[in-house]
Amino acid sequence: MLPSDPNPAETPVTPTFKLALPALALAALITPAQAQQAPLKVGLMLPATGTYTALGDAIEKGFKLYVQEHGGKLGGRDIQYFKVDDESEPSKATDNVNKLIKRDQVDVLVGTVHSGVALAMARAAKESNTLLIVPNAGADAITGAQCAANIFRTSFTNWQPGYAAGVVASGKGYKRAMTITWNYAAGIETVKGFTEGFEKGGGKVVKDLSLPFPNVEFQALLTEIAAQKPDVVFAFFAGGAASKFLKDYDAAGLKKSVPLVASGFLTDGTLEAAGASGQGVLSTLHYADNLDTPRNNAFRKSYALTYKSNADVYAVQGYDAAQLLAAGLTAVKGDFKQRDAMVAAMRKVRIDSPRGAFTLSPQHNPVQDIFLREAKGDNNEMRGVAVKALADPGRGCRM
Ligand code: PHB
Repeated sequence: MLPSDPNPAETPVTPTFKLALPALALAALITPAQAQQAPLKVGLMLPATGTYTALGDAIEKGFKLYVQEHGGKLGGRDIQYFKVDDESEPSKATDNVNKLIKRDQVDVLVGTVHSGVALAMARAAKESNTLLIVPNAGADAITGAQCAANIFRTSFTNWQPGYAAGVVASGKGYKRAMTITWNYAAGIETVKGFTEGFEKGGGKVVKDLSLPFPNVEFQALLTEIAAQKPDVVFAFFAGGAASKFLKDYDAAGLKKSVPLVASGFLTDGTLEAAGASGQGVLSTLHYADNLDTPRNNAFRKSYALTYKSNADVYAVQGYDAAQLLAAGLTAVKGDFKQRDAMVAAMRKVRIDSPRGAFTLSPQHNPVQDIFLREAKGDNNEMRGVAVKALADPGRGCRM
């Protein structure tokens, strides 16, 4: 079986008014450009196996929800999906993305979760000038040194939630911090952001601990934290591994003795599995489940009705990736060949996101509020705005 899934069943091509109009009248309504418009080919490259599986699933559901809410179309174009499971495996990333670019000849790439995989996607997208929308991976370089006119992101940079957590932790008066994460771009850059925010506020990171992705043998590192007794621990893990970390932190007795301030991914989509061990954990992220706005409430209701599960930050980011593509396509009436005009519209966009409205930085990354949240039941509840309208510095970007 091919790994791609064109899924034409989800892309009705018959305009609903066709039956009501005689053929001649219809011909007068459709411009030649529209008549030629085949479905827009969207290549979804996301993890469908491994510790990030649930994250990829929520992104895809979020993206498809927005398309479904708009009659299966974006900017008047039917959408045809092609899919590749990237397994969160950087060594396979170039081959995988080329299945979508070269074999399936997609118009737009949407992906992925893992920073290392996304960096390879961004390289391939830049070389082939394929439009890329990143709905999660935070690798700073994607909207920094590796930025490009055809690359956009609807999620965050790793620096953003990390920096905000540092501001929160120093604001609480903590002086000595330890950090713990996976030793790859997302972990390293998130910790760097935390350190910047924390030390700017007068704190000191006394030790960084890490293990290779996607390992979950936390025990030796937790023993070291218990021995050093810092004022606070900052952690970045995500997906299935994050629930295990929360449980192990609790089982080691640390939940009672050393407060955690985390990147919000530690507690997003992981609280049910973490049970009591996740409760009360403070974290920073650009989304909180209980944002009581008409936009967020409508989105969560629509998602829950469609998928019989609750939306999380990943679903929001996927939904907003579809919104961004829709904004570009609408500006050119679905004529994807007008790429410059489309990109110009995407750069100026104001996305009405469930997280709150956001714009894009000149490097194409969201400028957004980062919330302080507390884990309560299965939700991450808003406790305040940690940093308002935070823009990544976009270091090294020349566009
Ligand atoms: C990343 O690799 O950039 C990454 C992965 C999972 C997250 C957040 C960031 O939840």
